[in-house]
Amino acid sequence: MIDIKKVRSDFPALDQKVNGKDLIYFDNAASTLKAKPVIEALDQHYQKDTANVHRGLHFLSEKGTRQFEETRECVHKFLGSESSREIIFTKGTTESINLVAQCYGEAFLEKGDEILLSTLEHHSNIVPWQIAAEKKGAVIKEIPINKKGEILLEEYKKLLSSKTKIVSVTHTSNALGTINPIEEMIPMAHNVGAKFMVDAAQAVAHKPLDVKKLNCDFLAFSSHKIFGPTGVGVLYGKEEILNKMPPYQGGGEMIDRVTFKKTTFNDLPFKFEAGTPHIAGVIALKSAINYVQEIGLENISAYEEELLNYATEKIKNIEGLKIIGTSDKKASVISFVLEGIHPQDIGTILDKQGIAIRTGHHCTQPLMDFFNISGTARASFCFYNTKQEIDEFINGLHKVKEFF
Ligand code: ALA
Repeated sequence: MIDIKKVRSDFPALDQKVNGKDLIYFDNAASTLKAKPVIEALDQHYQKDTANVHRGLHFLSEKGTRQFEETRECVHKFLGSESSREIIFTKGTTESINLVAQCYGEAFLEKGDEILLSTLEHHSNIVPWQIAAEKKGAVIKEIPINKKGEILLEEYKKLLSSKTKIVSVTHTSNALGTINPIEEMIPMAHNVGAKFMVDAAQAVAHKPLDVKKLNCDFLAFSSHKIFGPTGVGVLYGKEEILNKMPPYQGGGEMIDRVTFKKTTFNDLPFKFEAGTPHIAGVIALKSAINYVQEIGLENISAYEEELLNYATEKIKNIEGLKIIGTSDKKASVISFVLEGIHPQDIGTILDKQGIAIRTGHHCTQPLMDFFNISGTARASFCFYNTKQEIDEFINGLHKVKEFF
């Protein structure tokens, strides 16, 4: 059970007016609001604890290093990885995927190899692979979907072959909310000797993830989609694969010994963490994860499903409205178009009523092309949202219709 009053009081951003109305924040798929313990951790670091990590012997440096590494332990347990060496801090999901595309690509991709991506992918799970493929002469193949926005497993099966080197698929579509059957897809990729990467950006704050159970080879997520700071991301990778990959960037921290003749590299995870990281952000990510775990992802998931079902039933009654993405398994995202009204106009008029949604192509242009639309309006719900807010949103949509 979610104590809605309590959780809402944990998010200071909810307590404000936008355009004279109580803020209704339905843009959680773009970024989640920040919980008080996260803000407090950031504040503590910048007010009192500022120092660099892994470099100093003094009190503050050691404190920072300890807290930074505590987050790594926390993420390791949160994802159920084999070891904390498999947890690498990046800038976000995008950088995590770029790291794998570039470094796995460098070590393993050869001319004619195939990379499988689905129609549902975010640009950040397409473009890095295109860059890697071009460099090595590899080929990208698209795993198709049906009109509900669901991956066609039979077609996926047909695309898999001994040429497939890696499959990279989102756990949950940011644009439609589709939850993909990755539990089935991962062993299918392994059967042909391919690796599997999971883009968990949209899943991490809504569903429990267990990398060992999933047996995925890589998984990426961003801190800012799980109530943590922006500028911090996580890459999980199996140790044996990460060990065979060259470093991502050169600099401090990722080295073992440098001479002008030759440099040797540090062990995992530091080999992939060049330069001073977002220390305060990483430390605050632990507070975010602890916060979510206190509420419980099972509780979050059940409550958000209730919100999704409630909103879906209500929104369906609006004449001229079409939901884009009607998968049987969906996260709490409703993407829609309204006949004769541009998504941007929907967003603007809702904003005047204090309701924040996202409009546009959601960085998924191939997916929009599949549906033959330029974009959608998207409402994405989180456990701090309420049915009352959904009612306001539905009223808001009626006002949009009246306006046109
Ligand atoms: N990928 C984020 C979204 O869907 C930014 O809005």
